Amino acid sequence: MTTQDFIGKENFTIHTQTVSESCPSNIALIKYWGKYADQIPANPSISYTLNHCKTNTSMEFTANETFSVQTFLAGNEEVKFAEKIEKYFRNIEQYLPWILKGKYIIRTENTFPHSSGIASSASGFGAIAKCLMALDASFTGKNSEEESLRKASFLARLGSGSACRSLYNGLVVWGKTHEVEESSDLFGVQYPDAEVHEVFKNFNDWVLLIHEGQKSVSSTVGHGLMNTNPYAERRFQEARENFVPMKEILKNGDMERFIKLVEHEALTLHAMMMMSDPAFILMKTGTLEVINKVWDFRRETGMSLFFTLDAGANVHLLFPSNGSEEQIKNFIESELLQHTQKNGVVKDVMKF
Ligand code: PMV
Repeated sequence: MTTQDFIGKENFTIHTQTVSESCPSNIALIKYWGKYADQIPANPSISYTLNHCKTNTSMEFTANETFSVQTFLAGNEEVKFAEKIEKYFRNIEQYLPWILKGKYIIRTENTFPHSSGIASSASGFGAIAKCLMALDASFTGKNSEEESLRKASFLARLGSGSACRSLYNGLVVWGKTHEVEESSDLFGVQYPDAEVHEVFKNFNDWVLLIHEGQKSVSSTVGHGLMNTNPYAERRFQEARENFVPMKEILKNGDMERFIKLVEHEALTLHAMMMMSDPAFILMKTGTLEVINKVWDFRRETGMSLFFTLDAGANVHLLFPSNGSEEQIKNFIESELLQHTQKNGVVKDVMKF
């Protein structure tokens, strides 16, 4: 499929309407870091969609008014966010030709703490794209569920790259790779369920909130710094290559190799930040303390507790949900929670 396939229908009848949608966040296992124009990823990525961390959004569209956007986050007006959404809507007009023909009031709430540093852009843009597709269905006639989800993923990508993976449950791939049929740089696709071992279909993700609040360097700036990073090409190549073992691992349930690959991806992401010019470090002391304790715990117990990181200091603690995770949970509570800012942990699962 190409961008042309997403051009919107010129026949539409608009009317005033409010729609509400919900979309979860996701956590990447093979990371997207670095992009080309129009939000085309420099390498393919794969993520787990979370079950509990979500954004709930309502979009009130008043037809035939001058185009404007007002946004409220947990009841508080957010002018900066409204400006961002306004720009985004102008940018996607060719895909939704009715989009600038009215005014919007958008109310959004996250089910996870606002200041947690958990990326709300993925769930946020996912929910907005779903709202837009709900309006589109009522203005232009309904598309199939599959088409509508694919276009929502396409539109979410144009808001925030990784958001395009949040439209689907389970494991989701974004970026063209020969290892996954139908994969595309333009939208996310669900990783085939039949190719996933049972052990990966019920997993915990406990997010330790090491540092709450604003990050020192945004994702947008971070992606941009890959343009001049001397290791970037090698990194993109490695991410592409990592799909080969990942596919085998997901099929045969090899937990040891999975842990090694996922942790390597997380550390590589942060290594890229350290090798950028200017260099930056998003990990905090607590991040490193937790990583070392997780490694010690694994060495001592042989249990499958491991970590991944997104573009921030928080640690996503991953462990299978197989009925024998009590010891892991106790260890997290007694040894790792102390490295968070305010005993903050968000307990999520990936079950599909
Ligand atoms: O979607 P963005 O631009 O916020 O980038 C997200 C990048 C990472 O979270 C670090 C990795 C990923 O693949 O989600």
